[in-house]
Amino acid sequence: MQNRWTCVNGKLLPTEEALLPVEDRALQFGDGVYEVIRLYRGTPFALKQHLARLSASSAAIMLDYGCVENELQASLEAILQKASGQDGQIYIQVTRGTAIRNHRFPEHTRPNVICTFSPLPAKNAIQLLKTVTLPDERWMHCNIKATSLLPNILAKEKAYRHGADEAILYRSSEHITEGSSSNIFMVQSGTLITHPANQWILNGITRQYVLALAKSLQIPYEERVFSLQELLNADEVIVTSTLQEIAAVVEIDHHPVQNGCAGPLTQRLHEEFMGSLSTEWFWEHAI
Ligand code: PDD
Repeated sequence: MQNRWTCVNGKLLPTEEALLPVEDRALQFGDGVYEVIRLYRGTPFALKQHLARLSASSAAIMLDYGCVENELQASLEAILQKASGQDGQIYIQVTRGTAIRNHRFPEHTRPNVICTFSPLPAKNAIQLLKTVTLPDERWMHCNIKATSLLPNILAKEKAYRHGADEAILYRSSEHITEGSSSNIFMVQSGTLITHPANQWILNGITRQYVLALAKSLQIPYEERVFSLQELLNADEVIVTSTLQEIAAVVEIDHHPVQNGCAGPLTQRLHEEFMGSLSTEWFWEHAI
């Protein structure tokens, strides 16, 4: 694909030409953290919040983000120039660096910083997603946006093989957590309900934005654990993520939700989300 650009440790190249050493720790151990940021006509959505989460994820895995923060800023500026005016995504990855393979952290090794721009088609229509429920087989620190995503990608692949777009994960029949690469909301009698932000989910930037939208629109919401049965009986089910934005779940385990259409609250939130994108002040005031 043309027009994809990557900065590796400050060096800007077409993505196909960008390389990392084979002894990079993310390659050998999944030892790194990352962010995916959406660009709307060249403007990054909630950049500050994404960088704050990257810093928190780094601290949680004892990775020295501070020593590469300025370099990452410079890489982002270079990448944003290439992205100028386009819709797309920025992928940032910070790894513990390059070292001879050893489970222990290497001493005196600088993190490797990767920052990639890829164009995406602009989309305004709400996505309708089929889902299946699957056991959540991940570790106990799902709040960290770590590059070690094997359980997530296995769940996503199983969902695809069941003819679905996303897997909704559960720890037990009483405890739905989130999607394989998204957060899950359900609507029960007009109230929006989603899992609390703790170690069992990634506190999605889109999730936080939707909660802020709900607050400003006076839509009642709760952050609480809900069961598989509640999910199946919900009036509406919503998927949120940077790439899927606000999407409607129209099927769970081959049973239709909302007769296969986006429900009224899902549609309203989607419209409000799209409408608010250019209003930077919203982030300053709503959270
Ligand atoms: N994933 N939960 C998980 C497990 C995720 O991987 C993601 C996003 C989210 C939603 O977070 P946000 O709203 O900040 O995008 C929730 C990204 C998009 C990815 O891995 O590609």
